[in-house]
Amino acid sequence: MSSVILKNLVKSYDGKKNVIDNINLEIKDKEFIVLVGSSGCGKSTILRLISGLEDITSGEVLIDNKVVNSVPPKDRDIAFVFQSYALYPHMSVYDNIAFGLKMRKIPKLEIDKKVREVAKSLNLEELLDRKPRQLSGGQRQRVALGRAIVRNPKVFLMDEPLSNLDANLRVQMRSEIKKLHQKLQTTFIYVTHDQTEALTMGDRIVVLDKGKIQQADSPEVIYNSPKNKFVAGFIGQMNFIDVNVNNGHFLIEGIDFYTDKNINGSVTAAIRAEKMVSGDSVLEVVPEIVEMTGGERIVYFYLNGNKCSAKVPLDYPIGDKIELKFSVNDMYFFNKESGEVI
Ligand SMILES: Nc1ncnc2c1ncn2[C@@H]1O[C@H](COP(=O)(O)OP(=O)(O)O)[C@@H](O)[C@H]1O
Ligand SMILES: [Mg+2]
Repeated sequence: MSSVILKNLVKSYDGKKNVIDNINLEIKDKEFIVLVGSSGCGKSTILRLISGLEDITSGEVLIDNKVVNSVPPKDRDIAFVFQSYALYPHMSVYDNIAFGLKMRKIPKLEIDKKVREVAKSLNLEELLDRKPRQLSGGQRQRVALGRAIVRNPKVFLMDEPLSNLDANLRVQMRSEIKKLHQKLQTTFIYVTHDQTEALTMGDRIVVLDKGKIQQADSPEVIYNSPKNKFVAGFIGQMNFIDVNVNNGHFLIEGIDFYTDKNINGSVTAAIRAEKMVSGDSVLEVVPEIVEMTGGERIVYFYLNGNKCSAKVPLDYPIGDKIELKFSVNDMYFFNKESGEVI
């Protein structure tokens, strides 16, 4: 069992502004949960509060249903993997992985067995004698993972562990970390600002903004049913269009559309860029910019004065005008003041 529960968690560094603003979250045993949000929204702070590296202003952190607020970090049985790897530069890969076990006065033979086991599982066997500076970024990150795994912690905290890697390696390490999670059967709390990492890796995604949880759900629910405009805009490529709805009728570029939702007044309509080329609602617009992304094109245009985009197949006709086809059923409507979905 290694659940992590955050109860009314608040953190203020300066006694004035709450950078973590009353967070409630139950992370289940063996869950792979991803905390995602833009820089400064409080992701790292949450991990530091869970690990005990930072004091809690108010609220509680529970691990295995026990309040750990006053338990020192080293006794929380948690492993932390950082973006910067934080390896000891003067130690070999072997000693970097063994360090935590040596500190715990575990017998040498047992340490040796564990280090070799972990090195094997991470493809580091050949590199055990090297120093960190003799390794590539991906290899260093694997050593950092090895050092975390070898202690058999109850919970893994990972703070943007792939941010320093180049794009290809990042994709590869994404699936390696997922495999690791399946093998270790431990709770993983993974922080990223990257929506693709969040969608591909998380059993559940927690979208954060300004120290508050905006939505915590499966990737499918986050993508298909965003609770508010922030989540809708953060995950995927969403178009937002100002419209005025009158008994279900609203105009986009002078053309009348109809929703059977009970909406009236000025609201923000939204539709994903990938939902603009099939459906029974048709609209012609002038393409401003066309971008080739490999397997498809992204076309930019304006709807009611709002800059919008569509992902279209390579063989889709684009001339002086482009025909958008969509279904009003694929549209979302958000309250202009609160941002909540209608
Ligand atoms: N040690 C600190 N002292 C004061 N403010 C901090 C400290 N660490 C982080 N902050 C502030 O708290 C907010 C959240 O930071 P952080 O948790 O690092 O965000 P993230 O990891 O999502 O980028 C930011 O506004 C940041 O400037
Ligand atoms: Mg951070």
